[in-house]
Amino acid sequence: MADPIIRICDLEKKFQSKNSEVYALKGINLEINQGDIYGIIGRSGAGKSTLVRCINMLERPTGGQVLFEGRDLCRLGDRELREARRSMGMIFQQFNLLMQRTAMENVCFPLELIGTPREEARKRAAELLELVGLADRAKSYPSQLSGGQKQRVAIARALATNPKVLLCDEATSALDPSTTDSILALIKDINRRLGITAVIITHEMSVIEKICSHVAIIAGGRIAECGPVEQVFYHPTTDAARIMVTPEALSPEKLPCERMVRIVFNGTKALEPLIGTMMLDCGKPMSIFYSDMREVDGVTYGQMVLQLPDDAEAIRRIYAFAESRGLILEELNCVR
Ligand SMILES: Nc1ncnc2c1ncn2[C@@H]1O[C@H](COP(=O)(O)OP(=O)(O)OP(=O)(O)O)[C@@H](O)[C@H]1O
Ligand SMILES: [Mg+2]
Repeated sequence: MADPIIRICDLEKKFQSKNSEVYALKGINLEINQGDIYGIIGRSGAGKSTLVRCINMLERPTGGQVLFEGRDLCRLGDRELREARRSMGMIFQQFNLLMQRTAMENVCFPLELIGTPREEARKRAAELLELVGLADRAKSYPSQLSGGQKQRVAIARALATNPKVLLCDEATSALDPSTTDSILALIKDINRRLGITAVIITHEMSVIEKICSHVAIIAGGRIAECGPVEQVFYHPTTDAARIMVTPEALSPEKLPCERMVRIVFNGTKALEPLIGTMMLDCGKPMSIFYSDMREVDGVTYGQMVLQLPDDAEAIRRIYAFAESRGLILEELNCVR
């Protein structure tokens, strides 16, 4: 297999203030392959922005390495670093457009910085505005555009220098749900059509589920878990990951604490009779507290949370039934 486009090795970022130091990142190891849409999810203050800013050296790491196409960015000279940075476009939650410039002039800006002749820059910018669906708004100022349109201009600007990677720091957090979906669809389209690797920073599970191939869960400046989305979301192995992937409806204060189990369906066939039969077989009713299952061609993906009956024999039968059908019941420990 080809080498990863981005490899992060034992990355550390320590912020020093007068009389204290904060480790924003510690012992971070990640591999992002060419063509991935790689999600990084974590709570506020987990270190997401610091991590993405270390990837393009907006923030200098205090330890470890960031390899971009095999080259350690921490060791590059100024000129080489500028070149490498051009290969990484970035977009932000607040769009960061230049307010005194039109959409066209915003997209031209990074090209001006590298001395692209004006006509060539305008031609490229026009193509990019077309790509993001804003060909007819080239002359608009940011104040005349909606949030979604501003983010489209920002994406066009980020693509101006032909980057290989698009870094997105909470790019949809200021947008409503349907605008969020359209921006995510655009990022996916750019990934597919132009082969651009995307790194998506978010605190929302739904963003990851919609477009990411891989995800890393970051908590307290460390990677708790990483891998393909289905693996990490449906089979988390650490508490930090479990807390992160648990939907709001399943937060401990919303659930009874006893006898709660989660069943994960990862390509399970003929689900309905299975759950029905399980209930009949144990001879006691059970409450379903949550389910976010999707069915594709008769095969079920997702999870369901149940409260087992208060009856030892019924519970024994349920576990035996689950085992005979290859279902995994995972006990939910509610910590209050
Ligand atoms: N320039 C700085 N100086 C000192 N501490 C910093 C600095 N930047 C970030 N930090 C600290 O590093 C930690 C991680 O911050 P970071 O901005 O990366 O979090 P985040 O996951 O992006 O959060 P959010 O979701 O709120 O954007 C926090 O504890 C923050 O206070
Ligand atoms: Mg942040």
